[in-house]
Amino acid sequence: MQIQDLPPSAACLPLAETLKQRRHQLTALIDVPVVLWSGRSSARNFPANIYPFRTSSHFLYFAGVPLENAAIRLEKGRLELFKDDPTPADLLWHGVTSTRDEIAAAIGADAAFPLIALMSRTSGAATLSVQDPATRQQQPRLLDRPVASAHQAQGLDGALAKAIAHMRLCHDAAGLAEIRAAAAVTVEAHIAGMAATRLAHREAQIRAAMEGVILAHNMTTAYSSIVTVHGEVLHNNQYHHPLQPGDLLLADVGAEAESGWASDVTRTWPVSGKFSPTQRDLYDVVLAAHDRCIEQLRPGVEYQDLHLLAAQTLAEGLVSLGILRGQPDQLVARDAHALFFPHGIGHLLGLDVHDMEDLGDLAGYETGRSRSDRFGLCYLRLNRPLRPGMVVTIEPGFYQVPALLNDPERRATYQDCVNWEHLTKFADVRGIRIENDVLVTDTGCEVLTAALPTHADAIEALISR
Ligand code: GLY
Ligand code: MN
Repeated sequence: MQIQDLPPSAACLPLAETLKQRRHQLTALIDVPVVLWSGRSSARNFPANIYPFRTSSHFLYFAGVPLENAAIRLEKGRLELFKDDPTPADLLWHGVTSTRDEIAAAIGADAAFPLIALMSRTSGAATLSVQDPATRQQQPRLLDRPVASAHQAQGLDGALAKAIAHMRLCHDAAGLAEIRAAAAVTVEAHIAGMAATRLAHREAQIRAAMEGVILAHNMTTAYSSIVTVHGEVLHNNQYHHPLQPGDLLLADVGAEAESGWASDVTRTWPVSGKFSPTQRDLYDVVLAAHDRCIEQLRPGVEYQDLHLLAAQTLAEGLVSLGILRGQPDQLVARDAHALFFPHGIGHLLGLDVHDMEDLGDLAGYETGRSRSDRFGLCYLRLNRPLRPGMVVTIEPGFYQVPALLNDPERRATYQDCVNWEHLTKFADVRGIRIENDVLVTDTGCEVLTAALPTHADAIEALISR
């Protein structure tokens, strides 16, 4: 059965079967009813002119399809869908869309009701707060109790957050298939971005080439693309800078499948098509950190140890280039590497690009662990032993962030660790990051984005192709 306005994955029985298995797993973890809302769109200036809508990921995980202004109720393996049928005005402005009963059949719901019926079905239910303000206001009214933000969920809601984090930590076959589909499109987008570079004059043109591939696959971006010659701005969302021949371009762009599953990839390449000697030296140091992490990535390995391995590799490389001074392990112990690598080695990837970060560190941190306040560890988003079925990113980088390097306090702390004079010779490197999406397998790992080269020579070849 093909449902007209639902993604292709919704139209096949395996989706309903997958959702059933997820419900049964949830039942084993929590013994109260669960109500999850999809959320609804926000108006830009009048109700029909909306910001792009994204269904809540927790809802998506159990409902399987992106829906707006809908809810599901899960109890003892049973799935109830709450959604209004299209109104005559909807039919006029948006055309014929799936009815509630058609959607219910596609996702294997046991019953389907208009939204109003939810009022009598919320008693004693656990839920998670959604991001959109209108639905967030509605949740306490319908449940007749306060609902804290998802990262502060307590009591029943806290138990639900824990159960869902446990389930979404390791992906089932259906989730993995969708991540693979998003990853394949992301690889294509990066190749298009590299190919577009020689004729481009501004960052925006490369962004357009990359996002054009994603849109052509009827996917969206999983986060605001970073396509910039100012890679030192970690989450740069400006695209107006001109491209100069000596610049490095950092592109952190990932597709999100129609079903909501994400990918997240970064490459850094020379605008001219050829790395300068200083750029190549630092690129190879970042690549060595990336490669060593992938070599060690397997079940049982502590993700924080991979972060520290990347830090150690970067410190070794920077010492050999004369940028850092001292013993690499002592430099890492003092967090000197964080002057140039201030973020964590990566994060969980799934239905969200930083998967489940709406739950704070509940998913990312093993029970009993909490964030370090160390300069070199405070942005580590994942601190658990790795398990088969997890997908994580590995994304080491080197950056010259003026706010860090010119900070008088940091400069005083690390005065003896850095050859500041020598560092000026590397002024043509503002930011380098290399990022891949990696599945933890039973015996090791699989780089899901391996089709996109990382080696500098291969990147240069793709730009001149
Ligand atoms: N893709 C952006 C990030 O991982 O923070
Ligand atoms: Mn990332």
